[in-house]
Amino acid sequence: MLTRVALVACLAAICAAKPMARSMQVHEAREDIPEGFVLSGAAPQDKVLSLRLALVQSDPAGLEKALMDVSTPSSALYGQHLTKEEVEKFVAPSPDSVAAVNAWFAENGIEAKSISPAGDWLSFSIPVSQANELLGADFSVFTHQETGQTSVRTLSYSIPSDLQGHVDLVHPTITFPNPFGRLPAMIAPPKAKPAVNLTSDAVPASCATTITPSCLQALYGIPTTPATVSTNQLGVSGFIEQFANQADLKTFLTNFRPDIPSTTTFELQTLDGGSNPQSPRQAGVEADLDIQYTVGIATEVPTFFISVGEDFNDGALEGFLDIINFLLGESSPPQVLTTSYGQNENTISRALANNLCTAYAQLGARGVSILFASGDGGVAGSQTTRCTTFLPTFPSGCPFMTSVGATTGVPETSASFSSGGFSNFFAQPSYQSTAVSSFLTALGNTNAGKFNRSGRAFPDVAAMGDNVEIVVGGEFGLVGGTSCSSPIFASVVSLLNDGLAAEGKPPLGFLNPFLYSTGAAALNDITTGSNPGCNTNGFPAGTGWDPVTGLGTPDFAKLKAAVGL
Ligand SMILES: *[C@@H]1O[C@H](CO)[C@@H](O)[C@H](O)[C@H]1NC(C)=O
Ligand SMILES: *[C@@H]1O[C@H](CO)[C@@H](O)[C@H](O)[C@H]1NC(C)=O
Repeated sequence: MLTRVALVACLAAICAAKPMARSMQVHEAREDIPEGFVLSGAAPQDKVLSLRLALVQSDPAGLEKALMDVSTPSSALYGQHLTKEEVEKFVAPSPDSVAAVNAWFAENGIEAKSISPAGDWLSFSIPVSQANELLGADFSVFTHQETGQTSVRTLSYSIPSDLQGHVDLVHPTITFPNPFGRLPAMIAPPKAKPAVNLTSDAVPASCATTITPSCLQALYGIPTTPATVSTNQLGVSGFIEQFANQADLKTFLTNFRPDIPSTTTFELQTLDGGSNPQSPRQAGVEADLDIQYTVGIATEVPTFFISVGEDFNDGALEGFLDIINFLLGESSPPQVLTTSYGQNENTISRALANNLCTAYAQLGARGVSILFASGDGGVAGSQTTRCTTFLPTFPSGCPFMTSVGATTGVPETSASFSSGGFSNFFAQPSYQSTAVSSFLTALGNTNAGKFNRSGRAFPDVAAMGDNVEIVVGGEFGLVGGTSCSSPIFASVVSLLNDGLAAEGKPPLGFLNPFLYSTGAAALNDITTGSNPGCNTNGFPAGTGWDPVTGLGTPDFAKLKAAVGL
């Protein structure tokens, strides 16, 4: 008996000192290096990597059902948004998962800390040598050829077999950074304003060549009267050191909104070491555009510029993760969030795309409308690029957010750069199946083999995105891109929410089930134009939904009626 006890104790001691090697299983891998990057060599073994690990969430299907229930106008639960705690219950990992991952980390001397309110994301730092061993990875240096930017990535990684079902993903591993971001260029100073006879008497003639807030008010019927409910808020995402300039906003309002105080402004929120310096030289085209077409359109809706710093960011969506976890941690996040950044879906790991998409579902379930620009490369993706098959953008392929495409001219037609198409990651959600199948039937065999007919189709809606006048660094100029369209549509949603809040009604929250049902007739269907790319004519716009301008652009009076105001 005694000997036996001693033997068991000894074995246990050996086990504690040197864990048995676990059997490993490939968890994520990419077939090749994304276009534009080259392998430059092994990563320095002592370089410390800041990694994040997502635990498997306990009930994403339950979250999706809850989201649809509160977002579908015909549902008995419509508008009954969830609390922070109710949402966290769906995504918090199971105690088993937490224990399994903690044990693995403890075995390897890793200290991790929780970085999300529900405890489903952990962060930890280890050198390349340890990361290669821990994850059966081959972290190497990859160089983006056009910009020279380097990043440390691996083309595959593994986790212990017994952690399958507990670990969702480790990042950054196979997701590559987006070297360009998505920035609209200042394309030209404002053009002379010729006398043009337009179809609608209400729209100023100058709008044919230069879009200002008055043009949008006339085109879409957006009211100029101030919002009244201070708890109804609008968030504007700021990334990649794009700063929103107060003086530029003041000049913009003085010139284009003389009916409201030129001191009307926004509040700043920061994370990851974000800031918002105010020298004219640091004014960002994207940030100024986003702030001028929210503060300048959603009259007196309290607007927040959320500046995400570069502390944890090498351009591979860390900022997207952090801003979402930041907002999920707030007890009352802004009811609308507009973001004019994104990248091609094929640069991102499926697991990461899925995780971020679930984060948008979490915010949607809490009553937040999430809007993103669809991209500026037509069917070629976020920016014009070489391609043989169409490149859907992220997060527009996620079914739990609202993707905004662009129009041009008066009367409006599709902007040819407006990205749209079909996700390869996310299946088509049922709320859009009727609208999308009508389009596909009419399309016939055009572009066959170049896109995924069963994928989530985007954009959902559109707004003006060309010849939009802004002020940057004190200079007036015109910009174009779906970056213009997202803040404009978001402002319309915020004004509708203001009306709802004034009547004690809940905000619109996740918009798509409404937009594709009772909301569709409240949008101006854009039926002309197309979005060429990849050596094709792209998709044609037409009657009903299309992958260029979605269901169309806002008609404020009709939208008001559709939401019951
Ligand atoms: C605009 O319409 C008016 C009246 O219909 C006409 O007299 C005028 O010539 C038109 N101007 C242009 C630039 O077409
Ligand atoms: C097409 O979309 C479906 C549904 O999302 C997906 O399962 C499939 O993998 C996609 N096909 C390709 C080739 O990406």
